[in-house]
Amino acid sequence: MDRIRIRGGNELHGTIPISGAKNAALPLMIASLLTDDTLTLENVPHLADVEQLIRILGNHGADISVNGRRERQQGDSYARTIHFTSRNIVDTTAPYELVSKMRASFWVLGPLLAREGKARVSLPGGCAIGTRPVDLFIEGLSALGAEIEIDGGYINATAPAGGLVGARYVFPKVSVGATHVLMMAATLAKGTTVIGNAAREPEVVDLANCLNAMGAKITGAGSSTITIEGVTSLSGARHRVLPDRIETGTYAMAVAMAGGDVVLENTDVALLDTALEAIRRAGAEITPTNNGLRVYRNGGGIKPVDVVTDPYPGFPTDLQAQFMGLMTRSSGVSHITETIFENRFMHVQELARLGAKISLSGQTAKIEGVPRLKGAPVMATDLRASVSLVIAGLVAEGDTMVSRVYHLDRGFERLEEKLTRCGAEVERVSE
Ligand code: UD1
Repeated sequence: MDRIRIRGGNELHGTIPISGAKNAALPLMIASLLTDDTLTLENVPHLADVEQLIRILGNHGADISVNGRRERQQGDSYARTIHFTSRNIVDTTAPYELVSKMRASFWVLGPLLAREGKARVSLPGGCAIGTRPVDLFIEGLSALGAEIEIDGGYINATAPAGGLVGARYVFPKVSVGATHVLMMAATLAKGTTVIGNAAREPEVVDLANCLNAMGAKITGAGSSTITIEGVTSLSGARHRVLPDRIETGTYAMAVAMAGGDVVLENTDVALLDTALEAIRRAGAEITPTNNGLRVYRNGGGIKPVDVVTDPYPGFPTDLQAQFMGLMTRSSGVSHITETIFENRFMHVQELARLGAKISLSGQTAKIEGVPRLKGAPVMATDLRASVSLVIAGLVAEGDTMVSRVYHLDRGFERLEEKLTRCGAEVERVSE
């Protein structure tokens, strides 16, 4: 199994190209099941989760071709263009063996149900960061008339004889995935669907834009009320996946941690205002460029900053672990409160192995900044937690060896290469 070795102590200088967003690419790929025409997605990141979803969509009958030529023109990006054509859905079952590896694959439930009138989808797996139930999906789809039962670890969903029917449904809690699924299902429902308390994440907007390009009639995405007028069919389209705001924030925090001066290309500051503000308050300078942003910290130390995770536009839970990594070296005491997932502090004990002083009380971590961290063997526990260990490793004295990097490969494209190009000593060790 691969491990990543980081030798701490180097500043970061240079340019990092930001990839397309994993969390946008996955629902966009799934949306291709809604049409028998070809959906072409540009700027798709090369990640283990994307490869896994390609296998899952193939199982439903999608014909998928990846452009052999890499798009290298913009900022040396390795993004790919992928064509998805689901002329016929050959199987409406998403089996446990495929779905258990990645929670988002469960989202095929929406398009399969809307297009085929039925779906049998295994209950999901994914990162072990909380119980992550599926009640909101069931309630939302039931509001559109679906009959749903859970049997033997599977959700069996059936649409009424004439297909799903538009309805008004207010989510009792904000869920990104359930918003994606309900929005996709409603595009082919009869009549109008109004989703209240919808997730406002940029990835929801990206999906709505793509669906509209396919002929859907969606308004309000990005606000908490989304209105979808059902249409009888959707066509193909060509769509560019938006930049990864979590990758952007992660590298901005890496620079804030290690010091230096780095330009993050192919991204947009408007996607992560709250996180960038927290990084600024911690002492890094951030200025927008015409194609991304420049982040630098020269000389000054890292200041303690308190953050609370919240649905968009709040501080993203997917940057919580990385920010904690940064705060381990602050000059005072900071608090990080996690409000989205109840079990998302598994990185705490690993950061402690590097010398961090962190105590947990309920959903809040108290981080007492320390003047130095020292390299140690550590273990990646989930996708975002794993990269917080890399951030800490960038300033730890000596070698930090991160094991279980398959978590990292699910969401960060060529991490070691991007950091090495900026002067970090990061290498993948295969055994
Ligand atoms: C998505 C992101 C993930 C991010 C999360 C929150 C993707 C592929 N993943 O995950 O990276 O951390 O949003 O920003 O885009 N919940 C329920 N019942 C449900 C569904 C969710 O109680 O039926 C709860 C979850 O347990 C969690 C909260 O709602 O506590 C938010 O989860 P949700 O927004 O659904 O996360 P995901 O869509 O799984």
